[in-house]
Amino acid sequence: MDFVGQSILSVDQFERADVERVFDIADAMAPYAHRTHITRVLRGAILSNMFFEPSTRTRISFGSAFNLLGGEVRETTEIRETSFAKGESLQDTARVLSGYSDIVVMRHPQPGSVSAFAGASRVPVINGGDGANEHPSQALLDLYTVRKEMAVLGRGIDGLRIALVGDLKYGRAVHSLCKLLGLFSRVAFNLASPPGLEAPPEITERLQTQGHVVQQSHHLERSIHHVDIVYVTRTQEERFASPAEANRYRGLFRLNQAVYTEHCEPNTVIMHPLPRDSRSEARELDDDLNANPNLAIFRQTDNGVLVRMALFAMVLDVVDQVHQHAMPVTWYTGKRTPR
Ligand code: NCD
Repeated sequence: MDFVGQSILSVDQFERADVERVFDIADAMAPYAHRTHITRVLRGAILSNMFFEPSTRTRISFGSAFNLLGGEVRETTEIRETSFAKGESLQDTARVLSGYSDIVVMRHPQPGSVSAFAGASRVPVINGGDGANEHPSQALLDLYTVRKEMAVLGRGIDGLRIALVGDLKYGRAVHSLCKLLGLFSRVAFNLASPPGLEAPPEITERLQTQGHVVQQSHHLERSIHHVDIVYVTRTQEERFASPAEANRYRGLFRLNQAVYTEHCEPNTVIMHPLPRDSRSEARELDDDLNANPNLAIFRQTDNGVLVRMALFAMVLDVVDQVHQHAMPVTWYTGKRTPR
C-alpha cells in the first residue's frame, strides 16, 4: 500500500513491508530534522492540527514535521474554542476544515471519533490518538526507536524480548505498539500491570494466534528480567471514572535506577511514550534514570519528527521529490544529531 491520499487511522492498515518503508523514508528525513538541510517540498500546503485533548509532543512534532517539509500549520487545541462547543457534529466540522487544508491531524477523547471525522473529510486525516483506542504514529515512532536501539547491538526486531508495564488497559500507545510488533516474528511479550489494568484480551489473543509468546503478570520486577526493552507507561488518569479511582493505581509500578540495576540486563533499553508523571505519588519512571545511557525516551521524541515527516511525505505523495527541494541551512544550528 502506498498510502497516497489515504487517512492513517489504525496500525491495522500496515503490513510489515509498509512499516519498513515508513522507516526507510524516516531515515531519509534526517538531514532536515537535524538541520543540515532544508526542503520546501510542501510549500503552500496547509495542515490543520486539531487537538481536542492535551498534547505536547504529538501536536508540536506533527506541526514541526510539516513545517520542516515547507508546509504551513493551523491549530486548534481547545474544544471550547471550536464549534463543537456549540453542538456542531464531527462530520460538519470535517467538511468545513477539509476545505481549508490539505491534510488534518486530529486527537479526540472518543474511540472511533477520528475515523468518523475522516469519513466526512475531503482530505486525508491522521489519527493523533482517539481515546484509549489507537495512536498509530506513536507506535510507528516507538518501533522505529526499537529498530535503531537494537541495530546498535547488531540485532533486529524479530526475536525481540519486550516488557510493557503499567496501564495496559487504557494506554493507546501500548495497544498500537503491540499490534505493530505482532507483524514481526517470535516476539516475546511480558505484559505487567496492576490488577485491573491488564491489556485488552483481543490484543493478547491476537498476539498468541500470531505465534508470539505472551506472559501476563502483576509484577513489575519479575517482568523486566531478560528483556531487550522495558516500555513503561503512565496511569492514564483521564480515562478513569474519577481521580480517586486513578489514585488507586498511581505509584504501584515504579522503575528507578535501583530496580533497574537489580532486575534488568545491563543493555536493557528503557522507553516511555511520555509524558512521565514526575509527581511524587506517581514516578513510574524516576528521574534518577536520566544519566542511564539506556534511557531512550528523548531519542524516541526526536525520532517522532522523522516518522511524522515520513507519513506526511507518503500521504501527500512527495517522497521522491523531498531531496530535489533541498538546500543547506544558512543559520547556526549547533549540534542537533542525536546520540
Ligand atoms: C501518549 C498518549 O497521548 O497516548 N502520549 C503521547 O502521545 N506521547 C501516552 C500518554 O499520554 O501517557
